[in-house]
Amino acid sequence: MNKTKAPENIGQYSVQDCIGQGAMGEIWLCHDPSLDRMLVVKRMKLALRGIEDYVQRFNREVQVLAAMNHSNIVQVYGYWLEKGQLNLSMEFINGWSLKQILDKANKNKVPVWAVCAILWECLNALVHVHSRRFVHRDLKPGNIMVDFSGRTKLLDFGIARIENQDMTLPGSIIGTTAYMSPEQVRGENATEQSDIFSLGIITFEMLTGKHPFRDDNAEKTSKNIQSKRISSSDFKSDVPSDIRRLVCIMLAKDVAKRASSAYGCLMELDFIMQGLPRELAHPLSAWLRSVRKDLPLPAPPVWKKSWWRSLLS
Ligand SMILES: Nc1ncnc2c1ncn2[C@@H]1O[C@H](COP(=O)(O)OP(=O)(O)O)[C@@H](O)[C@H]1O
Ligand SMILES: [Mg+2]
Repeated sequence: MNKTKAPENIGQYSVQDCIGQGAMGEIWLCHDPSLDRMLVVKRMKLALRGIEDYVQRFNREVQVLAAMNHSNIVQVYGYWLEKGQLNLSMEFINGWSLKQILDKANKNKVPVWAVCAILWECLNALVHVHSRRFVHRDLKPGNIMVDFSGRTKLLDFGIARIENQDMTLPGSIIGTTAYMSPEQVRGENATEQSDIFSLGIITFEMLTGKHPFRDDNAEKTSKNIQSKRISSSDFKSDVPSDIRRLVCIMLAKDVAKRASSAYGCLMELDFIMQGLPRELAHPLSAWLRSVRKDLPLPAPPVWKKSWWRSLLS
C-alpha cells in the first residue's frame, strides 16, 4: 500500500498506523490517551476538500452511523473539521475484512457453519439498517469485518441512502459493480432488496470460493449480474440444499421474486441453523486464528441434524 506520511496526532489522538486507504481518504489507527483505548479515524483526503460530492458523502456516513445502535455495526464516536480535513472517529475493529478472509481462506472455502455465523450477524445488522429506513447500497467483502473475537461488523456507510429519497449525486460512482444488484446496474434506485442481493453474492462467494458473476471486465460482470441465473447446481455438493435455496432467492434477478426482507432471510437462516449453536463467535474466532496463522483448522462446532433436516438435504 502506498502510505501517506503519518501525522503525529489527529485531534487529541496519537496516530499509530495507516490501516486502510480508499478513494475518500485514509483510515488511521489511533490511541485515545484520555480513555486509554484504540480507535480509528477516517480522514478525508486534503485533495477532496471542498468537492461537494465527497463532503456530502462523508456527512452522510456520519449521519447514518449516528442513527445506528447495533453490535454488528461499527460505532461512531465523533466528527470534526481539522486543518481543512474532515475526520470521523469510530470504534476500532480488531480483525480482518471479509475480503482478507476470502483471499486467505478461499483455497479451502469458508466452512458452512462459519458462513452461517457471518451471514446471521450481517442479516441482523441489515434488519437494523432497514428498520431505520436506510439502504447500505455498497455491501461487499471490504465493507464487512470479522473481529478476532468472532463478531461481524458492517462498515462504510458512505453511500447509504434514506429509502425513497433520491440522494444520488450526479457524477459520483455509487456502489461497486461486482456486488451491485441488477437494478443498481441498470441505474435504478437501490432498495432494501438490493442489499439482500449484494449479501447473496457475498454468501455465494464464501460458500463456493468464487464470485458468481465476476468476469474479465466490469461490462461483462454487469451483464452477468443482469442475466446469469444462479441455481442449486452452481454449488458444490458439500453445501446443504436449504442454504443453496436461501442464496438463490437472495440472488433472484427479479425483485418480485427475490427474498423480500432481511428479516425474512434471517428467519429462513434460523430454520436452517436448527441444531447448530446460535452463538458461534467463539468457534469463529478460533477458526479465523488458524486461518491467519496457517495452523490446522479446529474441529467445527457440532451440528446436530434433526431427522426432518436430513430429509430436506
Ligand atoms: N473501524 C475500523 N476498524 C478497523 N479497520 C477499519 C475500520 N474502518 C475501516 N477499516 C479498514 O479500512 C478499510 C477501508 O475502510 P472503508 O470505511 O470501507 O473506507 P472506503 O470508503 O475507503 O472504502 C476497510 O476495508 C477496513 O480494512
Ligand atoms: Mg469501503
